[in-house]
Amino acid sequence: MCGIVGYIGRRDATPVLIQGLKRLEYRGYDSFGIATVGSAIEVYKKNGRISDGEAGVVGLRGCTGIGHTRWATHGEPSDLNAHPHTDCSGRIAVVHNGVIENYGELKRQLAGRGHTFRSETDTEVIAHLIEEHYDGDLLAAVNATLPLLRGSYAVLAIAEDTPQIVAARDASPLVLGVGDAEIFAASDMTPLLEYTERVIFLEDGDVADLAPGRYTVYHGGQTVERPIELINWCVEDTRKGGFAHYMLKEIYEQPQSFYETIRAGIDEHVRQMVMEADEITLVACGTSYHTALAFKYLAEPLCNIPVRVEMGSEFKYFTPPLRGLAIAVSQSGETADTIAALKMAKARNCPTLAITNMQGSTVTRVADETLLMRAGPEIGVAATKSYTAQLAALMEIVNLRCEGAFDDVLSHAHLAIGDVLLQDINEAVALCSKAEHVFFVGRGAFYPVSMEGALKMKEISYVHAEGYAAGELKHGPFALLTPETPVVAVCTPGPTYGVMASNIKEMKARKAPVIALGVAGDTELAEIVDIFIPIPNTHLLVQVLTASVVLQLLAYHTACALQRDVDKPRNLAKSVTVE
Ligand code: F6R
Repeated sequence: MCGIVGYIGRRDATPVLIQGLKRLEYRGYDSFGIATVGSAIEVYKKNGRISDGEAGVVGLRGCTGIGHTRWATHGEPSDLNAHPHTDCSGRIAVVHNGVIENYGELKRQLAGRGHTFRSETDTEVIAHLIEEHYDGDLLAAVNATLPLLRGSYAVLAIAEDTPQIVAARDASPLVLGVGDAEIFAASDMTPLLEYTERVIFLEDGDVADLAPGRYTVYHGGQTVERPIELINWCVEDTRKGGFAHYMLKEIYEQPQSFYETIRAGIDEHVRQMVMEADEITLVACGTSYHTALAFKYLAEPLCNIPVRVEMGSEFKYFTPPLRGLAIAVSQSGETADTIAALKMAKARNCPTLAITNMQGSTVTRVADETLLMRAGPEIGVAATKSYTAQLAALMEIVNLRCEGAFDDVLSHAHLAIGDVLLQDINEAVALCSKAEHVFFVGRGAFYPVSMEGALKMKEISYVHAEGYAAGELKHGPFALLTPETPVVAVCTPGPTYGVMASNIKEMKARKAPVIALGVAGDTELAEIVDIFIPIPNTHLLVQVLTASVVLQLLAYHTACALQRDVDKPRNLAKSVTVE
């Protein structure tokens, strides 16, 4: 949550910072701000979206600056609570991503020593602590401040009259971009893509001293070398490319991102790890939890291996006994709960694997091995192409355990994904956009698919939706079925087809309109439901993908019909870096 960006070099910093913040806006978008080192520290910060307030930055000068886009944790979204925060004299400015847990105590002490606070944020204490230690040496002042902080941070600090940024990270991500006589810093790689492909992923505990064209990284007071890595994304991937929303673009990119993830394959170390496991535990949150659950429903019957799936947020407090391989599934690789669970699995001596879309992210640093998805940057807050790319990685594991039995299925699956992108779902959209509540139901692997369909619907359209295992609906939720409560049911041939068809009839008997996803040509199913949406009659693995994509489109078009802010749904942020 929250995105930070810094620039030091030969360009005017303001446009670089604003452009960078726009790329990071998916991390939080309730307010934004920048500070530059001009003749003094110049600050502009504003409640609301960058596009609504960016005109105010005109006039900020200097080739050194820092910026922030916020997802509020301490203090409501407001101009005053927006970052950057400054010290009493306005000579020092900081931006911060993370949470300072002991800020209350620090604030009381600082106020007792005469500091005046202007915001309700935890971050402001950092500016005042640096002020107390600042005698013209910003690096020394930051170094003296950091040991006083408890919690998580990625911090950028500037001081007046100094072409310098001091960057520090502990448990929040921070990447440096190395350009030609210019250095960038950001919460992730996306703001850097325009300028450089050379990046340094800072480690927890690192402090970096940045000057035009030069950087030094310290750890524990000593200079350290951090490797320069090359980014495997390009800037075009971060543009909307003529689509109305990033989300739609990303839905349409799925044939390619799925194919690329399959094509990248699994390296030898990961192969060995997967083949040696006699039990697998997956930890994940949100959409990633749903892909993990889909894996369970696929891997247990197909590969006969016990699979346990745990929510990252519960794992820390209710840690199950662990055996075998632990896999953390996380698009961003920065989800606090998933990272905490991964660390606990590691502490219990489980071999650990990270499945992520983010090269250099924290999960890749914690886990023994990484399986990198090839989804490219996902800007829409709602996960779409990262969901199917996660499924690609997890289906690869299923395939590996089944000795390549699904090689052919997986190498052609992208074609079926492409087919369903063209599916007409207008009638279903019309029904859902008039509803207050929508149920999504399925059995087996279609149960997590239904949960994901419901999550997409509620997060971007704000229509209340529930994903249920179809058989559970009559154990309570049936009380909610009315002619105004659509049920979206996934019902494809297989052992549960008959019982699903009976469930659908029971729902119809309660007058709930039923939208069914079934295989093309299933006229029997089409006859008993109100709206029938065909998906290709293919292997179960592919049906899981195609059904999911149709449900993404249903949520997307419903949200558009209701004129929602599809790419930036209210109250959310893409990367949830707080517990
Ligand atoms: C929903 C969504 C979230 C994330 C969740 C975990 O569309 O994107 O539910 O899936 O916050 O994020 P990652 O995968 O980055 O760990």
